[in-house]
Amino acid sequence: MVELLEGEGGFEAVIGLARTGAARLELTDETSIAQAAGQIANRNRPLRLVLDTTGFLHDDEFKPEKSLSQLDPRHLAHSFAINAIGPALLMKHFLPLLAREGKAVFATLSARVGSIGDNRLGGWHGYRASKAALNQLVRTAAVELRRSHRQAVCIALHPGTVDTRLSRPFAKDGLDVRSPTTAASEIWTVLQALGPDDSGSFLDQHGRAVPW
Ligand SMILES: NC(=O)c1ccc[n+]([C@@H]2O[C@H](COP(=O)([O-])OP(=O)(O)OC[C@H]3O[C@@H](n4cnc5c(N)ncnc54)[C@H](OP(=O)(O)O)[C@@H]3O)[C@@H](O)[C@H]2O)c1
Repeated sequence: MVELLEGEGGFEAVIGLARTGAARLELTDETSIAQAAGQIANRNRPLRLVLDTTGFLHDDEFKPEKSLSQLDPRHLAHSFAINAIGPALLMKHFLPLLAREGKAVFATLSARVGSIGDNRLGGWHGYRASKAALNQLVRTAAVELRRSHRQAVCIALHPGTVDTRLSRPFAKDGLDVRSPTTAASEIWTVLQALGPDDSGSFLDQHGRAVPW
């Protein structure tokens, strides 16, 4: 997304934050989030787009659960820390910085499997539940944001299945797996089409609403 947005040329500056590097942002450390937001606030430039592309599905220790018997409180807590609480803290510190006049967007990458209405397969309890929590946090923040930023948009976005280290172990034949470059371009198309009435929604990579 950073490469795409830099190439677009429509923004005065594109700032990539990560947990490594100079502008460190660690989702489990609110101080690092507050500091990153403070540095951006100090630029005194209207913030037009904040895009959260973080998330957690598996690592060396935790694999997605296949049944209730595999539930592990530490795994659940980690999923919520990264997929729900971290993005909630991003909204806490970055939504107040969005431009008050004209279009401004906060979008966080959620996942269709976080949809409660669309859950027919079960499994992946922690990922599903933490993304459902994220969706509720986005919706709640959007209600609050509208009071101060009438034209701003706050959404959860399902990026489709994308070839990344998160999805790779689970990519099956028949799935429409796209490259990160293609996914970024689809996300950008959705972001450009957003208007204030979209705030508080959960959209897929084609801009269509995903059931809650
Ligand atoms: N790939 C898919 O098919 C797919 C499908 C549906 C939804 N999504 C969602 O899309 C988003 C991006 O996923 P991805 O496929 O790009 O996964 P990924 O390649 O695993 O990237 C996850 C990103 O989150 C960052 N991150 C993880 N924990 C963090 C922490 N504690 N503090 C700060 N950053 C942290 C990682 O940073 P590091 O590089 O430092 O590890 C990495 O940049 C996620 O929300 C995911 O749920 C993906």
